[in-house]
Amino acid sequence: NELDKGTYPFYMLKEIDEQPAAMRRIVQTYQNDAGELTIDEDIVNAMLASDRIYIIGAGTSMHAGLVGSQLIEQLNGIPVEVHVASEFAYNMPILTEKPFFIFLSQSGETADSRQVLVQLNQLGYDALTITNVKGSTLSREAKYTLLLHVGPEIAVASTKAYTGQIAVMAILADAVRQAQGKAAPFDMGQELSLIANAMETMIDEKDHIHEIATDLFTDKRHAFYIGRGMDYYVSSEAALKLKEISYIQTEGFAGGELKHGTISLVEDGTPVIAFITQQNTAAHTRGNLEETRSRGAQTAVITTEALARETDQIVLPTVNELLTPLVSVVPAQLLAYYASLDRGLDVDKPRNLAKAVTVE
Ligand code: G6P
Repeated sequence: NELDKGTYPFYMLKEIDEQPAAMRRIVQTYQNDAGELTIDEDIVNAMLASDRIYIIGAGTSMHAGLVGSQLIEQLNGIPVEVHVASEFAYNMPILTEKPFFIFLSQSGETADSRQVLVQLNQLGYDALTITNVKGSTLSREAKYTLLLHVGPEIAVASTKAYTGQIAVMAILADAVRQAQGKAAPFDMGQELSLIANAMETMIDEKDHIHEIATDLFTDKRHAFYIGRGMDYYVSSEAALKLKEISYIQTEGFAGGELKHGTISLVEDGTPVIAFITQQNTAAHTRGNLEETRSRGAQTAVITTEALARETDQIVLPTVNELLTPLVSVVPAQLLAYYASLDRGLDVDKPRNLAKAVTVE
């Protein structure tokens, strides 16, 4: 039974573990009989006709949108803006002539996101909802829907829905690329399969990651994740994961921006974890991490085999740089899980939070 936690102490760990299988299921579901990834033609055409795509979501879904924005911009050359739903609803940006809207929502019930969709529907715009829940409000009220197919997510802290959303956006961007007649920079289906394997490698390192979590977070009250570009987006998600279930105040910060003020918060033993998965920013992020270490930070690095140095704590199998968030987020999910577990907290039900927030 999908809703049973089985031998797992918490749903969150079960859902982290399910991610490789979820990746494979997404690929299978979006494959046609010839084994090619496909997306409903109407959705692809709506994207093609658009001069700017607006991605709207809350919490973890918004963070998935940040990664999706890079995928769409790089593979399709269409500009993308990512917005927090609760801000967009009351402070709508000036829209372009042919906007297209993508709503990201695991539950499909988030009131902040729905409020935006209601307004856009009234204005006569078309939207696509990417959600895990068939028949959910946001799915019913948007013209188009794509489903995540990751199975029910029970833990309040979202894990497999985040990676599922990124994977579905990757498949969408790839389908649009094909319709644009652009050459494929890599085989998306094959890359997503490699990613499933890479996720498994990380999951197999749980015990090692637990040790790192204990070492970094015991008795700590503040922490930072840093990175640049794609790694910054994952830092935001990694920080949210850690703070929401461990109650350690954590910021996800752009590596280069830290020195412009926030580094003054770093003191002896402050955990600072850097994502270093992108060739073009690796050296600079290393420099930024070093700046925190020389001010007393306890540092850790999440990197890829291609960019790893001897002392790096967590090394991911190398996958395409555009898709590394799918793999690099996994150790961060595990770090958050073990930080919460070590504190004896209810990992699945953090205080003050709900799985779906149906008030604005
Ligand atoms: C709540 C949950 C978050 C989630 C956010 C958006 O705040 O606690 O984990 O990211 O809502 O939810 P959605 O269902 O729209 O993705």
